[in-house]
Amino acid sequence: MTINKVGVIGLGVIGLSWSALMLSKGLEVHVYDIREDHEEGTKKSIEQMLKSLDISFSEVSDYLVIEKTVENLAEHVEFIQENGPENLVFKKELYATIEKYGSNDLIIASSSSGIPAGKMNTEMTHPERLIIGHPFNPPHMIPLVEVSPSEQTAQDVILQTLAFYEQLGKSPVVIKKEIPGFVANRLQTAIFQECIALVRDNVVDVKELDTIIEKSLGIRWASGGPFLSFHLGGGPQGFEGFLKHLGPALNQGFKDISQVELTDELQGKLIEQVKTEYGMDLVDLAEQRDLVQGKIIDIWD
Ligand SMILES: NC(=O)c1ccc[n+]([C@@H]2O[C@H](COP(=O)([O-])OP(=O)(O)OC[C@H]3O[C@@H](n4cnc5c(N)ncnc54)[C@H](O)[C@@H]3O)[C@@H](O)[C@H]2O)c1
Repeated sequence: MTINKVGVIGLGVIGLSWSALMLSKGLEVHVYDIREDHEEGTKKSIEQMLKSLDISFSEVSDYLVIEKTVENLAEHVEFIQENGPENLVFKKELYATIEKYGSNDLIIASSSSGIPAGKMNTEMTHPERLIIGHPFNPPHMIPLVEVSPSEQTAQDVILQTLAFYEQLGKSPVVIKKEIPGFVANRLQTAIFQECIALVRDNVVDVKELDTIIEKSLGIRWASGGPFLSFHLGGGPQGFEGFLKHLGPALNQGFKDISQVELTDELQGKLIEQVKTEYGMDLVDLAEQRDLVQGKIIDIWD
């Protein structure tokens, strides 16, 4: 089934970006937020994000429907991407309202970064229709969506959700077990812990740390993930050879991984370095980021 009418609830960083992507794919996008500047603010932010997709707002504005209530939105769409606050009580209440007004086969996908669907669906009449569709920020650029079903999610809901994200040009991956933080964020957290420790201990400053990642792991992992990369780093025996040569060093490296406590003092040190190095022109910085990311994504396409 091709989905044509989508609802986007919660128009912060993630919801706006999803909306821009969905509009760029020709979908009718119904949006709802409690923000006072909902209509004007939403249009302005989506217009900004569409620039990274080489689309002008006027090309898609007819397909953007500003909803004044969740009830109305739920009545008119086939698939909802929920991006409200990361709060279990909020999400449960919202899904109850959606269920009351939406059609019987409406799929609800939550962008939640950490709350499993199995925790959010406990009071739903149709828990089989809830699934996590966790994007990587910004969703209008980064292809990955982690699709994490609960034990109750219906198989056809999983399949339709995967098909929908593919329709949007995304690269969805089903996470086989419900696990806090899913996969990409767990990896990011593990690496970021070491990044912070290296700056904390004055091994490098934030700019030097960023350069090291951008000029090495960033490029390597954009072309092949860690397992493929090490398969290619182990000589004629591939990954097996790699483990034979470097396994013992890796075992020692695992023991040397730093632990970090984000104290006020450490946060102050990191914030000061980031602000001094990059400034606060965040719109400009995001545009530069989108430009580079767009080129990398184009290579894969
Ligand atoms: N920021 C990220 O990097 C990121 C990445 C992936 C997933 N997520 C997830 O996406 C979701 C949204 O995160 P965000 O960073 O966009 O948050 P955000 O705070 O930027 O946006 C949340 C939006 O929800 C709106 N909202 C609050 N109450 C509402 C209500 N009752 N009805 C409708 N809208 C309401 C707020 O006005 C706000 O615009 C969270 O579940 C988060 O875990 C965030």
